[in-house]
Parts: sequence; C-alpha cells; structure tokens
Amino acid sequence: MSHIIAPSILAADFANLQRDIEMINQSEADWFHIDVMDGVFVPNISFGMPVIAAITKHAAKTMDVHLMIVDPDRFIKDFKKAGADILTVHYEACKHLHRTVQAIKQEGMQAGVSLNPHTPVSVLEDIIGDLDLVLLMSVNPGFGGQSFIENTYKKISQLKDLIEKSGSKAIIEIDGGVNDKNASKLLAAGATALVAGSFVFNSENPSKTIQNLKEVQP
Ligand code: DX5
Ligand code: ZN
Repeated sequence: MSHIIAPSILAADFANLQRDIEMINQSEADWFHIDVMDGVFVPNISFGMPVIAAITKHAAKTMDVHLMIVDPDRFIKDFKKAGADILTVHYEACKHLHRTVQAIKQEGMQAGVSLNPHTPVSVLEDIIGDLDLVLLMSVNPGFGGQSFIENTYKKISQLKDLIEKSGSKAIIEIDGGVNDKNASKLLAAGATALVAGSFVFNSENPSKTIQNLKEVQP
C-alpha cells in the first residue's frame, strides 16, 4: 500500500474553504486532516462542529479529525455526527484513555491516539492493540508552520517495534513540519500517513505539492 497524504485544513483559506476542499477532492490527497483546538489543551482555538459539518458536506475523502481538546469524551457523538471517520485524541488529555478509545469505536469511527513530542511511545504499550492509528506530533500542537522536531524519527522506530511486537494493526501518522525534505525519511522510518498544512497551502500549486508528496519514495 502506498502512503497516505492528509492535507491539514488549518492552513487553508477559511474565506475560500469550499475552493480549497474542492482542490483536495481533485488532488491525489487521501484524507482531510481536521485540527480541533480548544484554547485549553493547546494555546490556540481553531474551529468546531459547525465548520466540520460544513467541510464534510463537500469533502469526498476520509475525514481525519485530530482533537487537541481536554476531556474529548464529552463530544465523541457530536464529532461522529459532524462527519468524522477517524477520531484521534491526545494521550495527555484523557484520564481514562481505554474508555475513550472504546467509545470512539462504538460510534463506528476508527480510533487514534496522539502523543506530544515529550511523551514517550512506551505509554501506549497496554493500549496499542486497540488502536487503528497513532499520531506522533512532530511539533508542539497548537499551530501550523512550526519546524519539524528531529527526535520524531527515533519515536517512529520505537513505535514500529511496539506495533510489530504486539501484532497491532495501528498505522503511524506524522503531524507537524512535514515537507519534501523529511517525507522520504519519515516513510523509511515506518510512517504510513503524513499530515501537511503550510507546506501544501503556502505553495504556489497546492495540488502539485500534494502530488509530489504522494510520489515520495521511502
Ligand atoms: C498542529 C496541527 C497540525 C498542523 C500542521 O497542532 O496538529 O495538523 O496543521 O501544520 P504544518 O504542516 O504547517 O506544521
Ligand atoms: Zn493535526
């Protein structure tokens, strides 16, 4: 299977959202990456349910929703209703992660868990078998356009080992500072899905940039 490219809507032009959604629909992108920030878990606020529902209406691809919010359990049903196909919560934001993951699956969504750059992969040892996806943050969550943290490569290898040893079917997604300079090395280390925000939307030809990322070889 070739890798997955998930453009992050956070970097789109919110005044031309439908245009940017259509661009992704027409492009070689696989998923829509949707960043939800609450101003508590991260020092920024992005958007919520009405905006996600509006995106879903036009989006013809998988809705990959990344929650950077405290106590996500409160809203699992609402995110399903808004159109999420994959729902990813932060390890650092969940008191009862196992319960949260089961609740996401019960709603018929795929369950992901995200780790901040400082959180070791080993914390997932007892939950990895239940996960569809692990999202490793390669920047501190909260903002697009930050530079990639090099320690991520090591974490991908550790996570790959953990997944293989446990027989988990989880895939590895990388989020933050992804570009044409690090994509190949990320895939070689074991990543399957790459999120790209500013690198795609700040480029002259976003659709071509997506195609280039899609053609990167490990
Ligand atoms: C950051 C978000 C990312 C962000 C990535 O907290 O989770 O998805 O949009 O943006 P870039 O690719 O610009 O780092
Ligand atoms: Zn994200």
